[in-house]
Amino acid sequence: MEIILKNIKELVLVDEHSERPPFLAGPAMSDLPRLPQAWLHLRDGLIRGFGPMTTYPQELAREVMTIDTTDRYVLPAWCDSHTHLVFPASREQEYVDKIRGMSYEEIARRGGGILHSSRLMQEVPEEDLVEEALARLDEIIAYGTGAVEIKSGYGLTTESELKMLHVIRRLRELSPLTIRATFLGAHAVPMEYRGDPDRYVDLVLKEMLPEVARQGLADFVDVFCDTGFFTVEQTARILETAARYGLRPKIHANELDFSGGVQVGVQHQALSVDHLERSGEAEIQALKGSRTMPTVLPGAAFFLNLPHAPVRDMIGAGLPVALASDYNPGSSPSGNMQLMLSMGCVTYRMLPDEAIAACTLNGAYAMGLDDELGSIRVGKKANLIITKKIPSLEYLPYAFGSNKVATVILNGEIVHQNKKCS
Ligand code: NIG
Ligand code: FE
Repeated sequence: MEIILKNIKELVLVDEHSERPPFLAGPAMSDLPRLPQAWLHLRDGLIRGFGPMTTYPQELAREVMTIDTTDRYVLPAWCDSHTHLVFPASREQEYVDKIRGMSYEEIARRGGGILHSSRLMQEVPEEDLVEEALARLDEIIAYGTGAVEIKSGYGLTTESELKMLHVIRRLRELSPLTIRATFLGAHAVPMEYRGDPDRYVDLVLKEMLPEVARQGLADFVDVFCDTGFFTVEQTARILETAARYGLRPKIHANELDFSGGVQVGVQHQALSVDHLERSGEAEIQALKGSRTMPTVLPGAAFFLNLPHAPVRDMIGAGLPVALASDYNPGSSPSGNMQLMLSMGCVTYRMLPDEAIAACTLNGAYAMGLDDELGSIRVGKKANLIITKKIPSLEYLPYAFGSNKVATVILNGEIVHQNKKCS
């Protein structure tokens, strides 16, 4: 398919330099390159060219489909680098328990939370998991997501972890989204291993990881490194073994405590460390000069009433930041990246440009996809959002709660069109 978008009000996050950094950090996050009154040419799934309307390719436009995007912004589709969107059922009973005053940790200690999902996971057939996850993928596409990372971690037995990863592989075949898979066998210690958690770590290392690697089911490895879950030492053991299988870490770190998760992640060249609600100067220093993307999950902090990750201090220290949805049934039952964008601005005091960088190029980096996605660059995948007619780019995070996306183009094809906006 070949498409030309014309009269674009502003083409956002254009990337014209060959020597470009793989992510935006510090002050560069608040100064997104934008091209006003622009055109954009897509062919065979890729971005082929763009420029100001004064250079509009008239001849070519006569032969291909053109879309007039007057008064609309065009930006890279969201790159959501942290989700658990394959799950067997919602968990609204716990949500009510939390409203009544119970904490996430207490629910987990009682065998609820992740362990509750893992019991259900044993029973639900693979086809049902695929069908339900596909519906969630359709929903996030409608809000503008174009790439998503999905974790296992509700299996917690070798068979069930493999089942989850097979579901993710199937989603890759069926969905137009770009999908990355993460093996999260170390998401919680199952009840039967509570007396000897190291025995469960042994199972992850000796049985699960080799099989996951043999079948080529995962791009990354994750560990929930936090109080009541996995220690720094257990995390290090898992990351060392995973590295031998070529799996780079993405770590759940510092959600519940100053767990040392950030430091152990950075030491093991993690692609990202995620959550970071309990972070201070030591964590910021550990991240400085590393290639690890600090990733903040506003949905989880909102839903669990957690303290806020120190995003302003991070950006002030010259670090990059990514935002992701953490879409899961226990701590963030939403994959709506427009909501994450708004929360990034209001809760974390990110400027709209910073939050957009965090939801696009920086999210792409946190999935190892910055060469393919996350900015408007010739040769990158044509994964794009066309907004509704909106007064300014800042209106995107400002008008929280409603869908400002009119059209979503993935791999150069229109995959979602808001009927009222055609
Ligand atoms: O990122 N923190 C650990 N894992 C998920 C929650 C998973 C669940 O509660 O089901 C998270 O918040
Ligand atoms: Fe998570």
